Amino acid sequence: MMQEKILDFLKRKAEYVSGDQVSQRLGITRQALWKHIQELKEKGYDIVAVPHLGYRLASGPDRLFEPEVARGLNTEFIAKKIYYFDTVASTMDVATQLGIKGSSEGTIILSETQTKGRGRLGRAWFSPKYKGIYLSLILRPKIMPAQASLLTLLSAVSICEAIRGITDLDTQIKWPNDILLNHKKLGGILTELSAEMDRVNFVVIGMGLNVNNDKKTLTSGTASLKEQKKENVNRIGLLQEILRRIETNYLLFQKKGAHPIIEKWREHNITLGKRVKVYCQKEHIEGQAIDIDVDGGLLIRKDSGVIEKVMAGDVMHCK
Ligand code: BTN
Repeated sequence: MMQEKILDFLKRKAEYVSGDQVSQRLGITRQALWKHIQELKEKGYDIVAVPHLGYRLASGPDRLFEPEVARGLNTEFIAKKIYYFDTVASTMDVATQLGIKGSSEGTIILSETQTKGRGRLGRAWFSPKYKGIYLSLILRPKIMPAQASLLTLLSAVSICEAIRGITDLDTQIKWPNDILLNHKKLGGILTELSAEMDRVNFVVIGMGLNVNNDKKTLTSGTASLKEQKKENVNRIGLLQEILRRIETNYLLFQKKGAHPIIEKWREHNITLGKRVKVYCQKEHIEGQAIDIDVDGGLLIRKDSGVIEKVMAGDVMHCK
């Protein structure tokens, strides 16, 4: 807490602040202040100390530290509680445990890397350290389990909106929840549900996004924001915007239902209107992707004219 206060103090001034001034204002001794400054430096804050002038914060570390994410976020309930890790197996597991223990709606779990990051359909999610955003969010929506896919669509829309807001880049959504940049995968969403037949207990929405990956931390067919922008993107700023957009869209969903979310999703999607092949379990369905349903399912018109709805699967866009 004291370190946050010291940082706040230093951040408010672009110039040097004297040690006396800081220690007096915060009610600690000069020695205690010095010790905190050393610890902050170890965490990666570049604090310059000049005799007779005092301290100045030259730059902060590129870490998603909880106080940095919380500062200036201005949300009502999203990310009011933040759990931050340097490394975990998967933020999904941490979130599920917290969900079972009753963690409140909006709680988020962040990790700088994951040793067992997972994606949809049993795939792994590559999570190179300090490069991406790996986030799980706990929600407790009053919906039927079948509607949970809508939250995935809502999150995909929120991510696209945030990326556009922060980087000016246009990203697309491939049904149900792949975020694409120039037809390459930039991010993905994994929604896991704790529910009974007619009631959702809690939902964990896992989001993975390639932000500052260079070529060597990208697998084939994937993209990062840095690769496109040719410069590092501020992960904290982007994460905060994603969280704000999720809150806005979630409130919209609660107030107006699925319709406005689906409309926004349509604007970003590149699946509708295409000829697709959807692999679900062992079979596949081929046809024209004509629409999405109120619960987020994809409607496919097969060549026979029969329309089928798929709720999950892997979509291939046919040429
Ligand atoms: C997919 O595209 O298949 C979904 C990928 C989801 C990855 C995120 S990263 C944070 C969270 N923790 C995980 O283990 N997975 C999700």
